[in-house]
Amino acid sequence: MSRYILPVSAFGAVFGCAVLLKDHVTGGRCPSKATINGKTVIVTGANTGIGKETARELARRGGRIIMGCRNMEKCEAAAKEIRGKTLNPHVYARRLDLASTKSIREFAETIKQEEQRVDILINNAGVMRCPAWKTEDGFDMQFGVNHLGHFLLTNLLLDKLKESAPSRVINLASLAHIVGKLDFEDLNWEKKKFDTKQAYCQSKLANVLFTRELAKRLQGTGVTVNAVHPGVVATELGRYTSLHQSQFSSSVLGPFFSLLVKSPALGAHPSVYLAVSEELEGVTGRYYDVMTEKEPAPQALDDEAACRLWEVSSRLVGLEQKGQSGTSNPSVQIVPKKKHTVMSEL
Ligand SMILES: NC(=O)c1ccc[n+]([C@@H]2O[C@H](COP(=O)([O-])OP(=O)(O)OC[C@H]3O[C@@H](n4cnc5c(N)ncnc54)[C@H](OP(=O)(O)O)[C@@H]3O)[C@@H](O)[C@H]2O)c1
Repeated sequence: MSRYILPVSAFGAVFGCAVLLKDHVTGGRCPSKATINGKTVIVTGANTGIGKETARELARRGGRIIMGCRNMEKCEAAAKEIRGKTLNPHVYARRLDLASTKSIREFAETIKQEEQRVDILINNAGVMRCPAWKTEDGFDMQFGVNHLGHFLLTNLLLDKLKESAPSRVINLASLAHIVGKLDFEDLNWEKKKFDTKQAYCQSKLANVLFTRELAKRLQGTGVTVNAVHPGVVATELGRYTSLHQSQFSSSVLGPFFSLLVKSPALGAHPSVYLAVSEELEGVTGRYYDVMTEKEPAPQALDDEAACRLWEVSSRLVGLEQKGQSGTSNPSVQIVPKKKHTVMSEL
């Protein structure tokens, strides 16, 4: 028995230190104390996880918060909880299903009619490693929700963002983009065998490339856009992975995992930092690993791919470009959407 004491104590000590130090090691809190009274913020996927905590922190800082979620029951409950905890009455639940271009257009219309301004748009919602599901419009679910949905939403709100300038767009990407590849011949996984991990990585690479191209197109408008990897955060994101699906891993490994990674409350701080920090005024087109600017993977620096992705995405979601890449007039015109055949439009 005694021969186990040393290794078990050593493991306990290392594990204890890891738990105690994790908040420090994983990035800490947003250093800015900026308040945002009078500013309107949209957070997508705000009923749980990082999105909910981002909405809570920005409500605490005085913002008018619009939570865009697909499940209205969960959204209303989260909005009510945030109003109660922050004593900020201006926290609203609105329907937004990023797996439906119809829903995205309806949401954007509601915002244009109801809101005088949009100062901060946080493209937070995400789905990771789900089965080979398709969105309502026939896109791969991960590419459709994580990239195309936010691409369309952002474009539809650009005029509002420009009117409210200086304004900020924040795209929740992921470190996973480093192993992502964009397959322009088959972005929606129709020709090759579906690989759910690669589909997530592709969608997150698309988030970083979208940020790069949008920043170029918004030069001179006062609207900035940056991408962020929030760190590893204990949320529901892994709900389709084996860690959550197997009884053993969810009941035994899951709690260990949760102790070692950031809480959603801390996981929200990188988004809050990008949204409010004074030192990021005018900073655009960058990628942040938690709260430190980093160079993204080489494939995320490919301007040609970024431009091509923009053009393909515009066609897929039914937006037609009037401006050119790199100009300050990126105005988009909405064209009637054809019944969708994904491959024929590439
Ligand atoms: N957690 C991490 O370690 C981590 C690491 C890197 C990057 N990220 C990124 O951070 C973002 C937030 O993730 P999270 O960890 O907070 O995950 P989460 O707890 O699973 O929350 C994701 C949110 O997105 C919403 N969502 C999913 N599909 C949607 C759709 N079709 N329309 C509207 N909303 C939809 C979810 O709504 P429902 O509740 O209705 O499903 C939920 O509110 C994601 O973009 C993710 O890729 C997270």
